[in-house]
Amino acid sequence: MAEAKIVILGTGGTIAGQASSQGEGVGYKAAQISIEGLLQAIPDLQAQAGGCVLEAAQLAQIDSKDMDWAVWRTLLRSLAELLADACTRAVVVTHGTDTLEETAWLLQAVLQPAKPVVLTCAMRPATALQADGPQNLRDAVAAAAQAGGAGIAGAGVWVMAAGALHPGLSVQKAHPYRLDALRSYESGPSAYMEEGVLRWVGRPAGTGSAESADKRLAQWLSRDALPWVEIVTSGAAQSARAVQALVAAGVQGLVVAGTGNATVHAQMLDALLEARKAGVRVWCSTRCPEGVPVLPASAASTGCEHWLDGWLVPAEAQAEAVGEALAVIKLPPAKARLAMMLDLALPPA
Ligand code: SIN
Repeated sequence: MAEAKIVILGTGGTIAGQASSQGEGVGYKAAQISIEGLLQAIPDLQAQAGGCVLEAAQLAQIDSKDMDWAVWRTLLRSLAELLADACTRAVVVTHGTDTLEETAWLLQAVLQPAKPVVLTCAMRPATALQADGPQNLRDAVAAAAQAGGAGIAGAGVWVMAAGALHPGLSVQKAHPYRLDALRSYESGPSAYMEEGVLRWVGRPAGTGSAESADKRLAQWLSRDALPWVEIVTSGAAQSARAVQALVAAGVQGLVVAGTGNATVHAQMLDALLEARKAGVRVWCSTRCPEGVPVLPASAASTGCEHWLDGWLVPAEAQAEAVGEALAVIKLPPAKARLAMMLDLALPPA
């Protein structure tokens, strides 16, 4: 049987642009480097393809300000043919940012693909020191592979840029220069690419079967009160005293609003490790007002049936990457506290 493939179609844009010096981010020529040349700049691209074969074709080589019906028609024809091929898992299209929003809308509205079509682009030419094209293209291939494995939820036209996956219908270019130039009005991005792993926003994490969800609901509804969990915040000049006082008072769980990517002051960390030894549940989140902690891809999901799988990364799952660690919860502290209260209310697995 023929192998599953992801096909990458080149159409030009800044992602394929060339300037006379590495510092040049404005005075360059778009659409100069071939799609093969772009792929060669990403040595581990094949590893992002989820076991699919990568194929590439040059459909056009234009600055997208000059996009016209002739190129769109070529693109529509090629995509319709590729999407009808049972071997095609997903298609990636490189494109200029200037009219990306028109092309993305057109492809979604006209083709309504039942497989992922991931457009990508760049705000700096391929020759720039700060070239964003290689990372965007690498992320687009990973997104295509992972969205292809996500069934119907991953189908449709997407735009991958600056770590965010935007819906094709609502994406817009919002800034003429910044690397993070795209927005999706009203909806916001649908997913973020973090260390090669696509984290969907709003999609429930591993929730197991409907039967196990019913059982959990019955267990929660049978409780008159939830276990005692508090949030402690880590910061500069932190001491261990708040943790020690709460443990002495009988707290059952602690969620740490950690610094940055869920890090904890050394003074507080010792007290938390002691608390854990004493049987107190400890999870670490971040005090950053936007986003949730990002972990190495190897710790992304334990693949187990735990109702919080995908949100909760147990300490053991991080051991290889970071050594002794606290469990990390990929939720903001207030939600993490509620999740821990609910989790402590369930009988141990
Ligand atoms: C283009 O749209 O082809 C040039 C500008 C860009 O890609 O950012």
